[in-house]
Amino acid sequence: MSSLHYKPLSQDDGDEEQQFDVAPRVQNRHKRLLFHILAVAAVMYVSFLGVRAISRSSKMRMGKPCHGAHRNLSSLPSHYTLPSGHKIPSVALGVWKAEKDQVGDAVKTALKAGYKHIDGAWVYRNEAEVGQALRDSGVPRDQVWLTSKLWNTFHAPEDVEAALDISLQALGTEYLDLYLIHWPIAFKKGSDNVLDEELTANPYPTWKKLEELVDKGKIRNIGVSNFNIPRLRNLTANPLKYKPAVNQVELNFWNPQPELVKWAKENDLVLEAYSPLGSNNQVKETLNVPEVQAIAKELGITPAQAIISWHVQRGTVVLPKSVTPSRVVENLHVVKLPEDLFNKLEAAAAAHPPKRVVNPSKGWGLSFDIFNDVPKA
Ligand SMILES: NC(=O)c1ccc[n+]([C@@H]2O[C@H](COP(=O)([O-])OP(=O)(O)OC[C@H]3O[C@@H](n4cnc5c(N)ncnc54)[C@H](OP(=O)(O)O)[C@@H]3O)[C@@H](O)[C@H]2O)c1
Repeated sequence: MSSLHYKPLSQDDGDEEQQFDVAPRVQNRHKRLLFHILAVAAVMYVSFLGVRAISRSSKMRMGKPCHGAHRNLSSLPSHYTLPSGHKIPSVALGVWKAEKDQVGDAVKTALKAGYKHIDGAWVYRNEAEVGQALRDSGVPRDQVWLTSKLWNTFHAPEDVEAALDISLQALGTEYLDLYLIHWPIAFKKGSDNVLDEELTANPYPTWKKLEELVDKGKIRNIGVSNFNIPRLRNLTANPLKYKPAVNQVELNFWNPQPELVKWAKENDLVLEAYSPLGSNNQVKETLNVPEVQAIAKELGITPAQAIISWHVQRGTVVLPKSVTPSRVVENLHVVKLPEDLFNKLEAAAAAHPPKRVVNPSKGWGLSFDIFNDVPKA
C-alpha cells in the first residue's frame, strides 16, 4: 500500500516563523485572518448575487412572475362563474393557427403547466390532435374546460347537431364545456361564401337548437363570438331558455373596446379576449408598448405576462395562443397589477383609434362590416 505524503501548510509555516520573532508572526496571523474574513465575505456576497440572478431568471423561465421589489402583488381570479354555475378558467390556451404537428405538444405542455382550459374550434382543423393530446396527458376530462365553435356553414338548425358531433368525435369527448356560434354570419348550406341573410339577421333558430343540445347533455354552456352589442340585443330579445354565457371577441391593446367591456359587466356576460397579444401580426408591437415594458420592468415579469394580466384584471377570460413551450408556460402566470400601472395601460390602450387585427368582412365578400353592422330583423 503506498502512503501519501503531504505537508500541513499552516503548521509548517507557523513552525518556521517560530524560529525567528513572535511579534511579526502574530501580526502576520492577524493580517491573514483579516484577509480570510474579507475573502469569505466577498465569496458569500458574490454567491448571494449569483443565486439571486439564477433564481430570478429561472422563475421567469418557468413563467412564475418575480415580484417587484417595491410592490406586493396579489393574485387575480382563476375563474369566473357562469349563469349555469359552472366555473370557466380565466386563462386558456388558444389553438388557432397551431399546426397539426405542433398543437399536441403545446396542449400537453399547457396541461402539465396547470392550464385547465383549451379554446378551439372546428375550423382550426386540429381538434383530433387536441383530443389525442388531452388523452395522452392523462388529465381527466372533467378537469379541463373544452370550448369549440359552430362554423358559419352549419347554422341551419338541422345541421347544428351533426356539426357538434363532428367536433365531439374529433376531440374524443361526450360533451363540450362551451360551444359558441363562431361568427354572427350564416352561409347558405353547402357554400362557404353565400350569405344566408335570414339566419344572419335572426340567429334565434340556431340558438334554439343549441339550447336543445344543452338539454341533451352534449354541451354545458352556450355562447357567441364576434357579436356586437346590437347583435346581442337582437338575439336576447327572443324568449331564450339560456342566455349567451359568453361573447368571445377581439380584445387587445390595439382594440380594447372599453364600452363593450363595461356593457358586458352590466349585463352579466363574460367576455373572452381573443388575439389578446395582437395575434401573429401585432404581437411584437404589443410587447414593445412603453407602458407594457414599464410594467414588466417594475414588477419583474415579462411583457406578455403584463398584457395577459391586464386582460384578466379587466374581468375577461384571456386566450393567448402559443406553440412555444416556454411561452405556453410563461403565459399562464398572471398577477394583479397595481392600480396606477393598470390605469396607465388602460388609458394608453384607449388613447389611439381602435384597430382590429381580425376582420374577415372583406375576405368573405360581405357588403357590410361584421362589427359595425346593425341587424335589420
Ligand atoms: N373567435 C374568434 O373568431 C377568434 C379569432 C381569433 C382568435 N381566437 C382565439 O384566440 C386565440 C389567440 O388569438 P391569436 O392566436 O390570434 O393571437 P395571440 O394569442 O394574441 O398571439 C399569438 C402570437 O403570439 C405569439 N406569442 C404567444 N405568447 C408569446 C409570448 N409569451 N412572447 C412572445 N410571443 C408570444 C405566438 O407565437 P408562437 O405560437 O410561435 O409562440 C403567436 O405568434 C386563438 O388561438 C383562438 O383560440 C378566436
